[in-house]
Amino acid sequence: MAESSTPEGIVPRQVVARTEKRWLMAMAGMLLVMMAVIVVTGIAGALHPASNVEIVDPQTVHLQGEFVESNLGTAVEPDGSVTVRVLAETYAFVPHCVMVPAGMPVKFRLTSADAIHGFLLPHTNVNTMVVPGFVAEVRTRFAAPAEYAMPCHEFCGFGHHAMWAHVSVVPKERFANMSLTERTSCARH
Ligand code: CUA
Repeated sequence: MAESSTPEGIVPRQVVARTEKRWLMAMAGMLLVMMAVIVVTGIAGALHPASNVEIVDPQTVHLQGEFVESNLGTAVEPDGSVTVRVLAETYAFVPHCVMVPAGMPVKFRLTSADAIHGFLLPHTNVNTMVVPGFVAEVRTRFAAPAEYAMPCHEFCGFGHHAMWAHVSVVPKERFANMSLTERTSCARH
């Protein structure tokens, strides 16, 4: 009897093999269940990466459409919410500073004219890659007035470390009285 001759404290080979086989089957079962969940929810629930892919031509982005220079910066929509359009290019965000109101829905729409850049407002939900050829849209609402430094957080070349801008969140009432230039460039009259 092989089992009876095993020294004390050593698990017999047959027992080890049986346990390993059971675990293997349990693992295969789990994998099958997980794969089934992915396939079923993917098909039934139409779960897939965001489908609102917006394409823009990075070569003509300066010249026509939504991201021409006169359209960049902060725009107030009819419902009072705010849309901010920013163009990222090596090595700057245009405009360099934008003002937005506190306590209102703010929608950032960004695209890149060249390399992949990153757009991040620390301690908020705003954090996205800005990829040439696509429009990145992020919605947020700032609870209180604040100043945000806005660093590019995707390495985009030699000037990457110097590529950053500002978002200035001001009280709603103050924002309402600002001129377009002030909202879009933070320049004061
Ligand atoms: Cu732009 Cu890093």
